[in-house]
Amino acid sequence: MKGSIPDSLQELIKKHHGGPGMWKKILEHAGLPHDFKIYAHKDVDDETVKTLIDSAAKVLGITYDEAADAFGDYWMNEYAPMKYFAFFNRPRTAKEFLLEMNRVHEKITAKVENAKPPHFEYKTPDRNTLIMKYESERGMYPIFVGLVRAVGKYYKEDIKVLRSGDNSVKVSFNYV
Ligand code: HEM
Repeated sequence: MKGSIPDSLQELIKKHHGGPGMWKKILEHAGLPHDFKIYAHKDVDDETVKTLIDSAAKVLGITYDEAADAFGDYWMNEYAPMKYFAFFNRPRTAKEFLLEMNRVHEKITAKVENAKPPHFEYKTPDRNTLIMKYESERGMYPIFVGLVRAVGKYYKEDIKVLRSGDNSVKVSFNYV
């Protein structure tokens, strides 16, 4: 997948979770060389990305779900607003932002060869409820959940994100 995902993980560790030394330990745990380079615009093998997230969780002594939440928070609140600010201009609420996610992922991977961006199915049973289903061969559901939660934080909205079966989440908003 696009290197921006592991690049963001690398930044998160170096800035907030132990610095470059900790990142080296994570690379080592993942069986990668100390000088393993990640470029945001280049492809990184999907398995390598998953192994890096898994190794980060193990080395930091947290669960995979906790690592996924920390990743989602960093991506949505620090990395993407800097690197992909254009996508943050239009949506005014967390719900509007989440509803844009197919367009964002298709646009951003349009020029990437063999890109397989994640896809989302939506249901809106009422204006304060969004059922969002994650569809991707990569099976990164915990990352999806972490990102959805982080969208609420970005918009300073007290949203509730409930995991439901079949790779979906039920998001509750507080709009009047
Ligand atoms: C402006 C905000 C965002 C940008 C620019 C963005 C961009 C990207 C990019 C470039 C990738 C790599 C895709 C590939 O190489 O195929 C990716 C992966 C992913 N994104 Fe986003 N994303 C954003 C927000 C979100 C949000 C809010 C969610 C959840 C609702 C999400 C869910 C995912 C997931 C789960 C993946 C992992 C790849 C997979 O499962 O197939 N993203 N995103």
